[in-house]
Amino acid sequence: TACGGGGGEGQGGGDDAIVLGFSQVGAESGWRTANTESIKNAAKDAGIELKFSDAQQQQENQIQAIRSFIQQGVDVIAFSPVVESGWDTVLAEAKSAGIPVVLTDRAVETDQKDVYETFLGSDFVEEGRKAGQWLVEEYADSEEDVNIVELQGTTGSAPAIDRKEGFTEIISEHDNFEITASQDGDFTRSGGQEVMQAFLSSDDDIDVLYAHNDDMALGAIESIESAGLEPGEDITIISIDGIKDAFQAMADGKINLVVECNPLIGPQLMDLVGKVHAGEEVEERITVEEGVYTQDEAEEELPDRKY
Ligand code: AHR
Repeated sequence: TACGGGGGEGQGGGDDAIVLGFSQVGAESGWRTANTESIKNAAKDAGIELKFSDAQQQQENQIQAIRSFIQQGVDVIAFSPVVESGWDTVLAEAKSAGIPVVLTDRAVETDQKDVYETFLGSDFVEEGRKAGQWLVEEYADSEEDVNIVELQGTTGSAPAIDRKEGFTEIISEHDNFEITASQDGDFTRSGGQEVMQAFLSSDDDIDVLYAHNDDMALGAIESIESAGLEPGEDITIISIDGIKDAFQAMADGKINLVVECNPLIGPQLMDLVGKVHAGEEVEERITVEEGVYTQDEAEEELPDRKY
């Protein structure tokens, strides 16, 4: 099935190919779509048989999919957890079935030892810090209050928790920076649009929007324009991911800064899957390298964006 629990759609591989069960978060953002494509293509290229399941941003769907992978006896399970906590039972089940687990993109919170082999993904705290650092430098000459509204990613998810933490760590060193409102926009365009509309209707003194991803920023831009304001001018906008649409918005002057989060980790994931299947040692944590982009760089970078 393309959605929900189930075992997922099969793809690729020969008779003795490694069988990988992958449970994806959903299709909530441009980032996610690029990530899914990268994983599917890389599996095909590596000759790995992929059973892919889309959880539609529901943890119970992911748990169901993982249980189904265990039941089918796949060789390796990989998943990108919707939220951080609540995985202990199902991870223990995979462990006792002897199926190695690889975490990708998002981390889990667990006290259990050795329930997954490795975690491949971005450093979300660092992304939040990069956003905060740019902002404090941008407003370095101003002693006035800087009122920030924050569009948070899915409540309880690693990127929402960590991006808030990294950003707050930096701005809290400066007394004039304040997050005046913060709400969950679920990493979607419609979420960003709705929450920003609510922010604007209750506050006419917003200086900065910090969006935990590009899709929410793009949705918020619609609300800012509908309110008769100029995004990127009247309200400084920072977002995370670096999808093409956000680069276009930066080139158009509507987003001021994009902190990159790279979704194209399929090839690295397949490499790890091969290694854990072969019983090779892998590093416990593998971080993805990423950059930061401003409006000056947007136009030039645009044709080279791969997602
Ligand atoms: O986990 C990565 C985040 O999830 C991306 O930043 C966001 O766009 C996606 O939905």
